[in-house]
Amino acid sequence: MTKFTSCFAIALTLAAAVSSANAQAVGEPKEGLAVAQQVCAECHATVVGQDRSPNAQAPTFVKLAATPGMTRTALLVALTTPHAGMPMFMLADKQRDDIIAYILSLH
Ligand code: HEC
Repeated sequence: MTKFTSCFAIALTLAAAVSSANAQAVGEPKEGLAVAQQVCAECHATVVGQDRSPNAQAPTFVKLAATPGMTRTALLVALTTPHAGMPMFMLADKQRDDIIAYILSLH
C-alpha cells in the first residue's frame, strides 16, 4: 500500500514538472523574482501590490507587464540596451530569461 502510494506521488510530481516545463518554455519566474529583488528592486516595484517604485521614474513591473507590446522580445531589448536612467546589468542569459518570465507572469 505504501509502495503504491509513493509511486503514485512520484508519478504526480513528474506530471506536474512536465506540464510546468511546457507552460514556461523559457525562464523560471520564481528565480526571476529572486534576481529582480536583488538587481531591479532598488528602482522598480517588483511585486504585485507594491504600487509605487522606489524610483518614481521607473515603471512598476506590474505596469510593465500590462504595457501593450511588452513581449519577451521587447523586454529582451530593454534589458540588453542601455536606456535613460537604467544602468547596464551584468546578467547571465539565464537570469535575464528568468526575470523576463517573471515580469510576463505578472500579466
Ligand atoms: C537605477 C535604477 C534602475 C534599476 C536598477 C533598474 N531600472 Fe528599469 N528603469 C529605470 C527607469 C528610470 C526606467 C524608465 C526610463 C525610461 O523609460 O527611459 C526604467 C525602465 C525599465 C523598463 C521599460 C523600458 C522601456 O523600453 O519601456 C524595463 C523593461 C525595465 N526598466 C526593466 C528593468 C529590470 C528587469 C531591471 C533589473 C534587472 C531594472 N529595470 C533595473 C530604472 C532602473
